[in-house]
Amino acid sequence: MEKLLIKGGNILKGEISCSGAKNAALPMIAATILNDEEIIFRNLPYLQDITTMFELLGSMGANISLDESMDFSICANKLTDLEARYELVKTMRASILVLGPMVTKYGYAKIALPGGCAIGSRPVNFHLDALKKLGASISLENGYIEAKADRLIGADIVFDGVTVTGTENIMMAACLAKGKTTLRNVAMEPEVSDLADFLNLMGAKIKGAGSELIEIEGVEYLNSTTYTIPADRIEAGTYLVAAAATGGEIKINSIQPERLNNVIERLKLAGALIEVNANSISLDMINKRPLPVDISTSPFPGFPTDMQAQFSVLNALADGESIVKENVFENRFMHVQELNRMGCNISISGNIAKIIGVNKISGAQVMATDLRASASLILAGLVAKGETIVDRIYHIDRGYERIEEKLSYLGADITRLPS
Ligand code: EPU
Repeated sequence: MEKLLIKGGNILKGEISCSGAKNAALPMIAATILNDEEIIFRNLPYLQDITTMFELLGSMGANISLDESMDFSICANKLTDLEARYELVKTMRASILVLGPMVTKYGYAKIALPGGCAIGSRPVNFHLDALKKLGASISLENGYIEAKADRLIGADIVFDGVTVTGTENIMMAACLAKGKTTLRNVAMEPEVSDLADFLNLMGAKIKGAGSELIEIEGVEYLNSTTYTIPADRIEAGTYLVAAAATGGEIKINSIQPERLNNVIERLKLAGALIEVNANSISLDMINKRPLPVDISTSPFPGFPTDMQAQFSVLNALADGESIVKENVFENRFMHVQELNRMGCNISISGNIAKIIGVNKISGAQVMATDLRASASLILAGLVAKGETIVDRIYHIDRGYERIEEKLSYLGADITRLPS
């Protein structure tokens, strides 16, 4: 298995651009199932999760190709196999995103039930309950979800809890349903709005994405389009926190800063000087030790759970104590034991981490457990004295494009070791 070797102590400085957002791209690729024509994607990030979604669509019969300008085109007009098998679903839970599009377009879907994962149990009951309200019949057998429907019929649906992929799944399903669907208590994440923009460009009629209530008027079919995937706000946030942790200076270009308001506010409280322009964020933390900042994760516009592990590293190096509360996933503190092995002082009680800042941590051999936990270990390695080896970096390759290249460009000493 490949590893990352980091020699800590370098200050990150410079300018980078972020890659396309994984969590915006995944539902859009699934949404191509709704369409009989070719869809072209620009700025798709080169990530393992994207490859897995391609494999999934490919296994069902979609045609995927890459042109000379590195744009991907997908034509999913003749799916021959309406099954998402366990072998693929177990490697990526976001495979569940094909459920809504398949049922509404083909009237049938058989999808392996995603199990728990490193960050929590992650059930899909909200997706299934909402799909039933649109008229699908659902059965669970032998570890698979089987969903059937004639044409789905629009309905008024209140989600029992806020779910990002659940909102996306049902929004996609409702696009081709008969009549009007109203979705309440939906996720307001920017990626939900991106998906709505993409679907509307293809001819869907969606209003309200980004707010608590989404209204969808079903249409008969969708048209071809070309779409540029927006920049990844979590990747941007990760590099901002990385620069802050090393006492560095960074400018992130080509992003939508308002998507990071909550993270920016907390970085300011940690002592960073931040300048926000229309499409960029600059951070200056030169010669500063971070101040401790309490964080409490929640759905957008709250502090993102996907930034919790990275920000915990900043707090672990801060001059004082902080509390980090994880409210979205029940098991998202897997990085803590590894960070403590590097000299951090973090104790966990339920969903609360108490962090006592230390002014020095040391390199160690550590193991990545999930995507954002891996990012936090890399951040710690950048600051630690001596060498850090991060093992199982396939987790990082799921969601950060060319991370060692981008960090090296900013001045880090980081190398990928072959397996
Ligand atoms: N939940 C249920 N039932 C459901 C669905 C969700 O109980 O049917 C619970 C979950 O167990 C969790 C909470 O609701 O406690 C929120 O989960 P959500 O469904 O919103 O998560 P998701 O859609 O599976 C997406 C991102 C995650 C990100 C979360 C939260 C994608 C592909 N994934 O997951 O991204 O952490 O929203 O913002 O969009 C990552 O990129 O590292 C990542 C894990």
